Amino acid sequence: MTTEITPLNDIITARIAQQGRITFADFMATCLYEPGLGYYTSPGRKVGAEGDFYTSITVHAAFGRVIAREIAQMWRSMGTPADFTLVECGAGNGRLACDIMNYLAGREAQLYGGLRLVLVEQEPSLEAAQREMLAAHVGRLAWLSTDEFASGNFTFSGCLYSNELIDALPVHRVVMTSDGLREVYVTCTDGEFAEEAGEPSTPELEAYLNRVAVKLHPGQQAEVNLNAPVWLASASNALQRGFILTIDYGYPAAELYTPLRKLGTLLCYYRHQTEENPYLRLGLQDITAHVDFTTLMKCGEELGLQNNWFGEQYRFLMSAGIIEEIEDIERSAIAEEEKLRLRLALKKLILPDGGMGDTFKVLIQSKDVTTPRLLCQRRIGG
Ligand SMILES: C[S@@+](CC[C@H](N)C(=O)[O-])C[C@H]1O[C@@H](n2cnc3c(N)ncnc32)[C@H](O)[C@@H]1O
Repeated sequence: MTTEITPLNDIITARIAQQGRITFADFMATCLYEPGLGYYTSPGRKVGAEGDFYTSITVHAAFGRVIAREIAQMWRSMGTPADFTLVECGAGNGRLACDIMNYLAGREAQLYGGLRLVLVEQEPSLEAAQREMLAAHVGRLAWLSTDEFASGNFTFSGCLYSNELIDALPVHRVVMTSDGLREVYVTCTDGEFAEEAGEPSTPELEAYLNRVAVKLHPGQQAEVNLNAPVWLASASNALQRGFILTIDYGYPAAELYTPLRKLGTLLCYYRHQTEENPYLRLGLQDITAHVDFTTLMKCGEELGLQNNWFGEQYRFLMSAGIIEEIEDIERSAIAEEEKLRLRLALKKLILPDGGMGDTFKVLIQSKDVTTPRLLCQRRIGG
């Protein structure tokens, strides 16, 4: 396999020379999160026009404003408590948090009065960008490392939300053979990375597939995200009362692991181009895999969470308030040309058929909230 040499080539090659082949999850974790060198842990813009990919947040502030509308509804469902904590995991530069906080400050004074926002990021240097972005809300902000978040010492009541966090967690890769399930390992010979299949590094891989009743077909490859249930367990332990709102691209397990998807969903992004080879420009290209929402729902139930709502992003946005956001834009005094530009931007968020509207899904889970009445449960437009 061809490679483009970066400092991570030497690091991973040395690791393999020392300990033998590594799992793909170890390889991906190094490419994304090696301190100072990983894709998410090195300087440079990742998201937006100057980065490698767009997320819904970069499209328009209305995305965050609709989430804020739903958060206000969650607060009402909890009986309008005096204190309410928002937690964002994987907050990047803080843009989504800023859009949410601005909406709540402007439209929900009572909620905003007792509001606190805790930002959890794998990459600590992003705190500076988040501080700048959220300067208007400075007295309400706190930061936690991922270790502090998972330590069991942090608890809160309110809403924990994330956008495109789970797809950025390192995944194991497996392949079904005539001898049973095998794991994909990364080896290295003369500086060239290669893959080989071997006995699974942990029985958890098989257990994961069994939990969602998936039987891979011979020859079928797939990703298994063991980090997702671990993250959800930390989130659920921290949550005393309230909601977990997860937005990401993915499918229910039956659709994600369909035999039609023979090679899985692993994909890399570099300067707005997709790339299938994860062994190129290590640390300079993003590596992701689609999210298995069935596992999040099943593990959530095991953790004592209720699954309140799961569906396509466009359904969520349409019923939770994007229509009202569009009406606000229409009523505003901005120029007709700008209104048209905004209408087209918002269309991107809700367009099905390969747009962001249906590949992206929203899952809302809750703990200790009796029959929450959420905006997304309304009929679209109702
Ligand atoms: C794909 S980016 C999404 C950023 C932002 N939410 C957005 O939508 O533009 C994923 C982010 O999650 C962060 N991250 C990865 N693992 C994390 C974890 N366990 N806890 C918190 N943040 C994490 C990464 O450093 C990165 O900033």
